[in-house]
Amino acid sequence: MLSLARRRRSVREYNPEPIDLRDVLYAIQVALEAPSGANRQPWIFIVIDDEETKRKLRDECEKWEKKLHESTAIPEWFRSWLKKRGITWRKRFLTDAPILVAVLAYKKAPYARESTWLAIGYLLLALEERGLASLTYTPSNPRAVARMLGVPDDYTLEAIIPVGKPAVEKEKEPRHTVREKVYYNAWGKALPSVLIMPH
Ligand SMILES: Cc1cc2nc3c(=O)[nH]c(=O)nc-3n(C[C@H](O)[C@H](O)[C@H](O)COP(=O)(O)O)c2cc1C
Repeated sequence: MLSLARRRRSVREYNPEPIDLRDVLYAIQVALEAPSGANRQPWIFIVIDDEETKRKLRDECEKWEKKLHESTAIPEWFRSWLKKRGITWRKRFLTDAPILVAVLAYKKAPYARESTWLAIGYLLLALEERGLASLTYTPSNPRAVARMLGVPDDYTLEAIIPVGKPAVEKEKEPRHTVREKVYYNAWGKALPSVLIMPH
């Protein structure tokens, strides 16, 4: 699990070569095993491989992304974070990736979003296990995009996940260490060194 988790990274540039839909369905089956509030399993996954649908989704997403990127709503620190990674309002991955998975959460279920994001976490690692790259893209106007897919109002669109083979090798974003992120028995108390795994 640790090596899979370390290998996984968000990929924003995809090779359009087709992938096996069964690998994606395998990963969704893994996601369906995630825990959820009162076991309500509030998620729905829409698997999209239709080129015209992908194109329409991209157009809709980019329309709202452009508005967002041109507004003052993005704080300066985030703007420079995005710039460094070449992230703009253009979302080529929505048409380049051979498959998109839209993930919906049933609003009325308890802990709907928490549960759905847990399932997304399972999904990403299972895709990685099958050698497939992904990205948790969160559209800036999820309702507008959901409507295009015919999603009823009591579901929220949590993410669109492009899936495919990466077009370029990508550096891993840095992670904090166990020592920085894990306390022992109380806030700020360090773990004994003997418990910390060597890297
Ligand atoms: C809740 C959530 C929302 C995210 N939304 C976006 C997004 O809209 N667009 C995007 O390019 N990346 C998005 N990401 C990806 C993060 O930027 C990425 O996970 C983070 O920078 C760490 O990089 P890594 O996934 O390559 O390790 C999102 C990630 C999460 C967990």
